Amino acid sequence: MDMDTFRAVMGSLPSGVCVVTSVDDEGRPQGLTCSAVCSVSGDPPMLLACVKAPSRTLDAILARKRFAVNFLDADAQAVSALFASPVEDKFGSVAWDDASGMPQLRAAVATAQLIVHDTVQAGDHVIVLGRMVEGEAHRNRFPLGYWRGSYVRVFRIARV
Ligand SMILES: Cc1cc2nc3c(=O)[nH]c(=O)nc-3n(C[C@H](O)[C@H](O)[C@H](O)COP(=O)(O)O)c2cc1C
Repeated sequence: MDMDTFRAVMGSLPSGVCVVTSVDDEGRPQGLTCSAVCSVSGDPPMLLACVKAPSRTLDAILARKRFAVNFLDADAQAVSALFASPVEDKFGSVAWDDASGMPQLRAAVATAQLIVHDTVQAGDHVIVLGRMVEGEAHRNRFPLGYWRGSYVRVFRIARV
């Protein structure tokens, strides 16, 4: 099984685009763009995020045992690119706050605050299972999507 085939197969599943955030030992916000985010359980409410190591954000999550997931809105392509880049200060040029604990981005359709429930080493990624302790959804906004290596828009199909 070669990597190109794996990527082509998995890239065929459209996803949302999230920015997973936490705060490092020195109090600095850390974050990375992450499409491997998935709902896991309703009771208790849990989601998972798959993060490739090494990662400053992963280090911060493991140290703090807390993180946030920001589900980006349709106009946030530049935010996604920024948080997927090696820029030192990713938070300097975006609107965000930490009033709920971990960093929340303004350019989001929804945000979730989580406590680490468990972590699982899975190949070259770490699966971070989080229990959601707070969440907020902006029901009038549309999400940013990602499919086959490109950003896509998501819209409702009219009911027949
Ligand atoms: C659309 C998109 C989706 C991504 N999804 C993931 C993902 O699910 N997990 C991951 O570890 N990296 C993912 N990345 C790559 C990271 O965002 C990128 O490697 C980032 O620079 C890591 O930052 P860090 O080294 O500060 O942790 C994605 C990038 C893009 C553009």
